[in-house]
Amino acid sequence: MDLAPSLAGPWYTDDAIFAAEQQTLFSTRWVCAGRGEELAEPGDFVTRIVAGESLILVRDEQGTARAFYNVCRHRGSRILTDDAGRCAHGIRCPYHAWLYALDGELRAAPNIRDWRGEGAQDLGLTPVALEERYGCLFVNLAGDPASFDADITRQLLDRMGTAELIGHWELDRLRVGCSRTYDVAANWKLIVENFSECYHCPTVHPELTTVIPEFKRGAGTLTVPGYGATYGDGIGGFTFDGRPGLPALPALADDEARRYYGLVLTPNWFVNLVEDHVILHRLEPLAPDRTRVVCDWVFAPETLSAGHDIEPSVELFHRTNGQDFAICSQCQLGMTSRAFADGGVLVPVETQLGAFHDEVRAAVETAGGAKGAGHL
Ligand code: FES
Ligand SMILES: [Fe+2]
Repeated sequence: MDLAPSLAGPWYTDDAIFAAEQQTLFSTRWVCAGRGEELAEPGDFVTRIVAGESLILVRDEQGTARAFYNVCRHRGSRILTDDAGRCAHGIRCPYHAWLYALDGELRAAPNIRDWRGEGAQDLGLTPVALEERYGCLFVNLAGDPASFDADITRQLLDRMGTAELIGHWELDRLRVGCSRTYDVAANWKLIVENFSECYHCPTVHPELTTVIPEFKRGAGTLTVPGYGATYGDGIGGFTFDGRPGLPALPALADDEARRYYGLVLTPNWFVNLVEDHVILHRLEPLAPDRTRVVCDWVFAPETLSAGHDIEPSVELFHRTNGQDFAICSQCQLGMTSRAFADGGVLVPVETQLGAFHDEVRAAVETAGGAKGAGHL
């Protein structure tokens, strides 16, 4: 059997490779940084780390979500230190109290008589490109970023086959019913790889493979445009024990219900579409061997307000997440071993991983390689 090589162990442990990925994939691509509903009102903000940079994401007076570096233009202080909050009257630096409007412009600099003079207009917060799409906030640190459609929308099209299909879930209308954060002792790429194959499903996911029996064969569906894996006979819904779930989302066609569509959108966003809710994952790489994963379960607002019990639905992917992240952590342990210094192999149903590896290799080469890594 002719098997393709996987990435070698150091790709998952090396500081220089991690830094190169952050400089490229996470600094020039569209990175999912949260849900738009986290910024419900003007002045609502969250702070997020992207590619090692602290960013402020805030909704301005006109209702537009904006992103800025969380760095004061005076002498560089970190400005907002909370994870989330509201700054209805502007963004004030805690050092010398410079005040910025919600659109980033410098509005006041105390005790300087003519601060509005020449140059003040250039002292607004440094902006970061932001797109609010599919109900999510995406940022791009590049000075002249590629279009969102050329990046995320293209990947969505490749997976879903048509531009219309994803619209049937009305992602921008759905609301978070449950959010969980997982601190995973694994490199972010192991988590992307894990979500990109179902070869592990029969061994790792007893509940998921009961609901979706075709996953017992170990073949994923990511490479088949527009294909959703079907629920098993006698399965009532996408719940931990197959009991019936929630009312179906209203815009779905009959043949789109009772199906599961999994999407992996690099560099850091996963989407899982089922008939009555959507599960969204975003990855925050923290170190070569550490990744924070935020998972949001989003539902139709009318389902949430009607008081339906969402727990059986949440529990299925919460268990799946726990199983995935435990096995990714076990896999990370092997990455430091001499026995994996030259890597392993990919079996035929893991071809998607090879494409992801090529994407990462190309990005790291763009960064001039990872000096000192020696395993490229
Ligand atoms: S560093 Fe922010 S006001 Fe001085
Ligand atoms: Fe899995």
